[in-house]
Formats: sequence, C-alpha cells, structure tokens
Amino acid sequence: RMGRSRLPLVLLAAAVACAVAQHAPPWTEDCRKSTYPPSGPTYRGPVPWYTINLDLPPYKRWHQLMADKAAELKVLMNSMKNMVNAFVPSGKVMQIVDQKLPGLLGNLPGPFEEEMKGIAAVTDIPLGEIISFNIFYEFFTMCTSIITEDKEGHLLHGRNMDFGVFLGWNTNNNTWVVTEELKPLTVNLDFQRNNKTVFKASSFAGYVGMLTGFKPGLFSLTLNERFSINGGYLGVLEWIMGKKDAMWIGFITRSVLENSTSYEEAKNTLTKTKILAPAYFILGGNQSGEGCVITRDRKESLDVYELDPKQGRWYVVETNYDRWKHPFFLDNRRAPAKMCLNRITPENISFATLYDVLSTKPVLNKLTAFTTLIDVVKGQYEAYLRDCPDPCIGW
Ligand SMILES: *[C@@H]1O[C@H](CO)[C@@H](O)[C@H](O)[C@H]1NC(C)=O
Ligand SMILES: *[C@@H]1O[C@H](CO)[C@@H](O)[C@H](O)[C@H]1NC(C)=O
Ligand SMILES: *[C@@H]1O[C@H](CO)[C@@H](O)[C@H](O)[C@H]1NC(C)=O
Ligand SMILES: *[C@@H]1O[C@H](CO)[C@@H](O)[C@H](O)[C@H]1NC(C)=O
Ligand SMILES: *[C@@H]1O[C@H](CO)[C@@H](O)[C@H](O)[C@H]1NC(C)=O
Repeated sequence: RMGRSRLPLVLLAAAVACAVAQHAPPWTEDCRKSTYPPSGPTYRGPVPWYTINLDLPPYKRWHQLMADKAAELKVLMNSMKNMVNAFVPSGKVMQIVDQKLPGLLGNLPGPFEEEMKGIAAVTDIPLGEIISFNIFYEFFTMCTSIITEDKEGHLLHGRNMDFGVFLGWNTNNNTWVVTEELKPLTVNLDFQRNNKTVFKASSFAGYVGMLTGFKPGLFSLTLNERFSINGGYLGVLEWIMGKKDAMWIGFITRSVLENSTSYEEAKNTLTKTKILAPAYFILGGNQSGEGCVITRDRKESLDVYELDPKQGRWYVVETNYDRWKHPFFLDNRRAPAKMCLNRITPENISFATLYDVLSTKPVLNKLTAFTTLIDVVKGQYEAYLRDCPDPCIGW
C-alpha cells in the first residue's frame, strides 16, 4: 500500500504548481449547461437512503446502517492510520487515539456520546477512532454552498461537499485517497420520530454530526469550514483543558436540524451559541428573503449576510473565505460560481441550472464527494455522488 504516494509536502508542491493556473483552462471551464438530470463522467451514482429512528435509544440508532457500512469505514480508518503513522512512525499517535482520546475528551454531550459508542460496538472499530473521525473530519472540508431566490420568491439551496484535502493522493488515477474512500460511505438519512420525518441529511456513515440537511417546509442548513488563526485546534485544546461551554460544530448543526422549529430560531441559535471551531453556516428558510450566510468566530458572529431580492441580491454564495476578503489566490471557487449564477438570472434558476453551477470546474473539483440540491417548500431533497475526471484541479 505504500506504493501510493502519501508524502504531503511533495504533493503540496506539485499541487501548488498546478493550482497557480487555477484561473486558466483546463482547470476552469465555461459555465456548464444541461448537466441535469445527472449523467456522464462527473456523475458517480446515486446516494442510498437510510432511516434513523430517533425513538430508539442513541446507542442503537445507527446499528442497521453501520452493519452495512462497517467494511467501508474500516478501509477509511486504515488509510487515516497509515497517514498518521507515516508522519509519526512510532505508532504512538494511534495508540493515544485508541487508548487515551475518549478519556482526554471526557463526556461528550448527549446523544452523541452514546451514538458513537453504539457505532464503535457494531463496527468493531475502537471508540477513539470513531470519535476522532467525528471531530477531525471538520478540519478537512472545503465546500461551496449557494442559496438562490427566483423571481417568484421561491428558494433553492445547493452545496458541493468537498472533503479530504492534503490527506494523501493516489497517483494511479489522480484522486484524493480519502475523498474516494468517503464516496461509498455517503448516505442520505431520514431522521424520524413516531415514524414521521423530522429532518433529512446527507452524511458519511460513522459521522453523527450533520453538515448538510433540511427540515421539510421550514429550513435548510449547510456548514462550510472557515480557516482562522483562532481556529478549531484551540477550541479542542480548551475542551481538553476542561472548558466545555462550547458546542462541537457538527453537533450544533445536527441539534438545530433536529430541534429548531423555524428559520428564525435556527438563525438565532447558529448566531449566538459558542462553538469549538470557526465556521460558516448557510441557512435557508421557506419564504422570500430567508437565506443567509453566518460567518462565525468561535465566540461570536462576525457577519450575517442575507438575501435582499429587492436590492437585486437574489443569491448568496459561500466557499471557505470571508465575503469581505479575497479568496486565497490558489482557490477561487467563489468567482466562477457567481459568474455562472449571474448568467442564469432569477428567471431561470432551478435544480437543473443550480446543478450546472455546481458541476462547473473548479466549483466541482477532485475533492467533491457529493452534490446536494434542496427545495424546502416542495420538500425535495436530492444528493448525487460526483467525480471530476482529468483534467481537473485538486480543489
Ligand atoms: C481511484 O482508485 C481508487 C483505489 O484504487 C478507487 O477506490 C477509486 O474508486 C478510483 N477513483 C476513480 C475516480 O477512478
Ligand atoms: C412505526 O411503524 C411500524 C410499522 O410500520 C410500527 O410497527 C411501529 O409501531 C410504528 N412506531 C410508532 C412509534 O408509531
Ligand atoms: C433534541 O431535543 C431532545 C429533547 O429535548 C433531546 O433529547 C435531544 O438530545 C436533542 N437532540 C440533539 C441532537 O441535541
Ligand atoms: C414557514 O415557516 C414558518 C415558521 O418559521 C411556519 O410557521 C410556516 O408555516 C412555514 N410556511 C410554510 C408554507 O410551510
Ligand atoms: C434557461 O435554462 C435552460 C436550461 O439550462 C436553457 O435551455 C435556456 O436557454 C435558459 N433560458 C434563458 C433565458 O437563459
């Protein structure tokens, strides 16, 4: 397995060299058209649906799904372990993760701790590894989220989930090792109480937080990572030192999806709750004007940028940069997304044209695991696995 190149520095140098040209073909392309319904080389396949019964005790909720996905999760965990051991060859880090991490972190908030224990039991993967998947997952995501409003005031929410940056490159077929291994773990989840849908979400089996989801009729929510000096590592450190007043980031979005009952309530919680890592929350509602990007520091909200259709602001786009700053010059997915939306106009925005935007390179890139399309009012929720065949940028 070491035949694959997993030397992050060499990889970084090579990736930077090619990314310098991110604004030029073949890394970018003209706005795609007629890509929907999904087909062809950028479409890997459908995402399977599973029901998660919230009436079951947390320990048992994930059993059926995880029994199906245990083998795939083990493959991913092994890759992660190999990467960690390539950095610190003694094997000490994984020993700490397996033996000490659960103790170091102490009690995690309910229902998450019990859910992760249940997943560890069914899959026979050490609890420390399941916890680290749930925590460190959010440090490697690069995403694009978009909310649009058409001329009738109807909202749509779309997102590309890009995951696995710097976690090993497969030189056989030019793919990110982890991104590829996450695709078979991608699932749509229908969370139910009393046999009725509470919310729906797309996630990776084994991850109990939710970063992409919606509550039919009420609101839609996606989370994008925000890189900051005052970052998540400090938050995790504070947590380990005993300061446990902040929420884990994937947990707060799950809680909002599960328990908030309106756009306003969700917005209020996402703006005010202390969180462990900086983030962007992209929240859509069920009527005109209800769509915003909340830029969060760990302790407070820095900016809430809302739709304002009367002033011509009929969409909001968030990648992984503050809107008042230029994107990192090697990673400008914002400009192409906006350019394509501007061409589509509010007269012609639909699942089809939104999918076109999310299929245009570099908005679509080698990290993109799946694309989700959400229509809150109509209760429609679609997710598709993606590929980005060569030539395609690493991110
Ligand atoms: C690339 O190769 C890996 C490992 O052999 C495989 O899992 C993955 O599906 C391949 N991806 C593509 C897009 O061909
Ligand atoms: C949900 O439906 C199943 C069968 O479809 C039934 O056995 C069960 O009692 C129902 N549960 C609740 C909480 O209504
Ligand atoms: C949602 O609220 C219920 C009832 O208060 C609580 O038991 C549950 O843990 C909450 N869910 C999450 C994910 O926080
Ligand atoms: C929109 O959401 C509000 C709660 O914010 C709810 O009262 C209302 O019924 C919803 N409208 C529709 C059409 O579902
Ligand atoms: C609207 O989108 C459809 C589908 O992509 C396209 O065929 C049509 O030309 C577009 N119309 C306008 C006015 O842009």
